[in-house]
Amino acid sequence: MDLEIRRAGEGDLQALTDLEAICFKGQDPWSRDAFLNEVVENSDRTLYLVALAGGKVVGYMGVWMVLDEGDITNVAVDPEFRRRHIAESLIEEMVRRTSEEGITCWTLEVRVDNEAAIRLYEKMGFRAEGIRPKYYEYDGTDALIMWKGRE
Ligand SMILES: CC(C)(COP(=O)(O)OP(=O)(O)OC[C@H]1O[C@@H](n2cnc3c(N)ncnc32)[C@H](O)[C@@H]1OP(=O)(O)O)[C@@H](O)C(=O)NCCC(=O)NCCS
Repeated sequence: MDLEIRRAGEGDLQALTDLEAICFKGQDPWSRDAFLNEVVENSDRTLYLVALAGGKVVGYMGVWMVLDEGDITNVAVDPEFRRRHIAESLIEEMVRRTSEEGITCWTLEVRVDNEAAIRLYEKMGFRAEGIRPKYYEYDGTDALIMWKGRE
C-alpha cells in the first residue's frame, strides 16, 4: 500500500472530523472546532500527523509537546484500513519528529477495554503505569496510563 504521512493542516480539518466521528462513535468524538484548536491554533505546541492512502486521509494522530514530554491525544485509523500497520507508522513518525524537538518520553490514556489500542501501544514500547478511575465521563470507564521512554 502506498502510504504518505505528513503534518496535518487546516485543509485536513473536515477529513479529521469525519474520521473521528467514525472511529469514536458513541465515545464523545471531537468536533471540527476541537480539531481547529488543536491542529491550527496551537500548532506551535502540537503535532498532528495524517496518513494518506491514494490521497485519502485514512489515519491520524496528535500529540502535545510539553517540555520534554509528548502527551498523545488521539490515534485513529479508518476501519477499512486497519491491521496494515498504519497506526504503527504514524507513531514511529511522531516519535521521530518529536524527538528532533527534544521530546524524550511519551504518555497517553487508553480505555482499559480497548485491547487493540493497548496491544498497539505495547508493541510500540509503551508500558502501563497506572489507572485513572472513571476517566471517560460518557460511560465512566477507567483509563490505563501508559508511558514510553520514562525511566
Ligand atoms: C487502535 C487502532 C488505531 C489501530 O490501528 P491499526 O492501523 O489497525 O494498527 P496497526 O495495523 O498499526 O497495528 C499495529 C499492532 O497493534 C496491535 N493491534 C492492532 N489492532 C489490533 C487488534 N484489533 N487486536 C489485537 N492487536 C491489534 C498488533 O500488535 C499490531 O501488530 P501486528 O499487526 O503486527 O500484529 C485502530 O484499531 C483504531 O482506530 N481504533 C479506534 C480508535 C481507537 O480506539 N484509538 C485509540 C484511542 S487511545
